[in-house]
Amino acid sequence: METINIIDAPKHVNERVRIGVWLTDKRSSGKIAFLQLRDGTAFFQGILLKNKVSEEIFEMARHDLRQESSFWVTGEIHEDARSKFGYEIQIDDIELIGDSEDYPIGNKEHGVDFLLDHRHLWLRSSKPQAMMKVRDRVIRATYEFFGQQGFTKIDPPILTGNAPEGTTDLFHTEYFDQDAYLSQSGQLYEEAGAMALNKVYSFGPVFRAEKSKTRRHLIEFWMIEPEMAFMHQEESLEVQEQYVAYLVSSVLKDCRHELEVLGRDPESLVPFTKLPYPRISYDEAVEMLKKADFDIEWGVDFGSPEETYLADQFDQPVFILNYPKSIKPFYMKGHPTRDDVYVCADLLAPEGYGEIIGGSERETDYEVLRQAILDAGLDESAYEWYLDLRKYGTVPHSGFGLGLERFLTWITKTDHVRETIPFPRLLNRLYP
Ligand code: 4AD
Ligand code: MG
Repeated sequence: METINIIDAPKHVNERVRIGVWLTDKRSSGKIAFLQLRDGTAFFQGILLKNKVSEEIFEMARHDLRQESSFWVTGEIHEDARSKFGYEIQIDDIELIGDSEDYPIGNKEHGVDFLLDHRHLWLRSSKPQAMMKVRDRVIRATYEFFGQQGFTKIDPPILTGNAPEGTTDLFHTEYFDQDAYLSQSGQLYEEAGAMALNKVYSFGPVFRAEKSKTRRHLIEFWMIEPEMAFMHQEESLEVQEQYVAYLVSSVLKDCRHELEVLGRDPESLVPFTKLPYPRISYDEAVEMLKKADFDIEWGVDFGSPEETYLADQFDQPVFILNYPKSIKPFYMKGHPTRDDVYVCADLLAPEGYGEIIGGSERETDYEVLRQAILDAGLDESAYEWYLDLRKYGTVPHSGFGLGLERFLTWITKTDHVRETIPFPRLLNRLYP
């Protein structure tokens, strides 16, 4: 007899198999018991008929098995046209593995904080499971895409002395007798990588001690950061849109069921696989906002209402190009004909999900970059190594960062970014 996973039940119809499961729910009458089972690969139903199993097993199923008890079931797989999964198991034996206390999560409305406190258990529910499957698929699609395009994955350090994205939200720590920070972005290291290997990318956790409590911000999130040598911004935008379309297509191909569990109609994602995505300048964006009566001045960063309005004017993700220097980091390349903007772009997701990519061409000139570091109030000595990249064979190069959780929030049509990561780090939340 074979031990299988629930997901493989369709291949074992009318065979007797064994499956390790947890109980999600049950109901019974005097003659029949229905057990709702899960094993992490799928959910399905087990049936016990009183006259087909021992008295002892039938009574155990009815009385002793509780929500989230773990046990082995043995029985025959049958088709079950009435159920969503399409198959069930007619159980003839049960071997209890782990009893379960009164399980705190039930079929009722639990508050947000309660579910966050019980995140380690909440992960067993169908929505978080579907989310983790989509997340896994997006990570694999990332490796596929950049692997196929000739990129090499370069892992940047997590402990660093550098602050590429500004000094306000740094996580400070001690590195023996030196000051150190948790990485905000691997970008500066990816730039060094691009000078060594031409096209590189990283995928790893980054940290921002942002004191803001919004639906879009995590303290710890995962970023994909490609960096490409001998490449200008226009070409980088093409890589960005191709990458996003590839991610959407991969999820559409392999995660339709998960998307439906999460409340996203898969068909609604199809337009986002069509390229190119529209491009407008920051200047144009400000004009559009002014016409729509937003109280906005040139030079100010967009907040969530502004981003949502702009995104709503398009039915695809939209690139906003050339932001003012005052609101972007020091490493960006200055515009060739204007001294007030950078050669950069953010990609805004449709439907009000905000910025999913930030990227730019990078400054290549040693002196200009050195001055930008000083103007940003950074300690030059910590960036000597970074300036070296402009001293020894500097080349045009561009890169970008996609926030994995922001992307997932959008494609799964989820209200809050915290639902896209297994154990979210939020303001004032370190456990579980
Ligand atoms: O725009 P950001 O700050 O850009 C960088 O860090 C660059 N160094 C990237 C690069 O060019 N290599 O962050 C990039 C993306 C944002 O577009 C957003 O998707 C996500 O990271 N992001 C966050 N996601 C969740 N929580 C936060 N607090 C985030 N901050 C940024
Ligand atoms: Mg940004």
